[in-house]
Amino acid sequence: MIPELESLREQVDEELKTARTEAEFQALRIRYLGRKGLLTGLLRNIANVQPDQRPLFGKRCNELKEFVSAKIDQHLAELAVSEKEKSLRTERIDVTLPGRAVRYGSLHPITKVRDEICGIFAGLGFSIEEGPEIELDYYNFEALNIPADHPARDMHDTFYVDEKRVLRTHTSPVEIRTMQKNSPPIRIISPGKVYRRDSDISHTPMFHQIEGLLVDKGITLANLKGVLTHFLKKMFGEETAVRFRPSYFPFTEPSAEVDIRCVICGGKGCRVCKQSGWLEILGAGMTHPQVFKNVGYDPEIYSGFAFGLGLERIAMLKYGISDIRLFFEGDLRFLEQF
Ligand code: PHE
Repeated sequence: MIPELESLREQVDEELKTARTEAEFQALRIRYLGRKGLLTGLLRNIANVQPDQRPLFGKRCNELKEFVSAKIDQHLAELAVSEKEKSLRTERIDVTLPGRAVRYGSLHPITKVRDEICGIFAGLGFSIEEGPEIELDYYNFEALNIPADHPARDMHDTFYVDEKRVLRTHTSPVEIRTMQKNSPPIRIISPGKVYRRDSDISHTPMFHQIEGLLVDKGITLANLKGVLTHFLKKMFGEETAVRFRPSYFPFTEPSAEVDIRCVICGGKGCRVCKQSGWLEILGAGMTHPQVFKNVGYDPEIYSGFAFGLGLERIAMLKYGISDIRLFFEGDLRFLEQF
């Protein structure tokens, strides 16, 4: 039996010399050391060996097994090293090549304007409130003193969801929701999306507004003028001229529209200000006593003012953009400029 071992050993030596690849060494391992391998088979035949020779036979078999296993491991390790060296030699990295430029995202111009406006009012102690975009007719109209047959509803080009619900046409319903939840003093602004059936170079069916509301004892039109003038000078520059024109909203009395001197032509008259020298920027007014009654505030005790402004219009003026639709097309060539 020992001679058989000897010849197996020579055979292994020979095959170890000729094997080259990892696959060949793995095959060798299976051929000799696998469960049905040659060496394993030999060891299984130990019963045929004369009893007095069995210990030696077993010992030799195991030695050969370990020898073969160690040899294969050694060859595989050498192979790995030389593979690595080969790839280091051939796959050279050219560290002088220019890197790939990282593309930075940027904030949408509407987001930037919104954040800037919220920042100015935060500095005056206003906090931020939000309300639903699908709104009850009651909050969007009724509670704001716009009953069903009121002609002011015509101004709104409303999208109706069903009998009772609309896509809000302005952010003013947040005034009502805020007053219902809290008692005075109140000082909030509310940015958000609003919807009207309208679409041309300066109107889109969805656009953004910011609402403002301040309620306390002893609030007057002078407070409204002071706060809004401060805001407009912060937003458009200290030298900006501001003008208040009488206007009408059902939920404020008196009401005003607020203009700034045209930022494009400086007041001389141009296409953007339609030769008037002024730009209409926001609607505002002293909260109507009926609105206070609708939320359970006593108009004899409290007074306040509200305002609403369109973000797209302000962004267009600030960045010199002539078509409102650019804000919603998602064209990176446009957006990357901000
Ligand atoms: N909600 C009005 C609009 O969308 C703007 C406004 C808000 C006017 C608050 C007065 C007070 O036109």
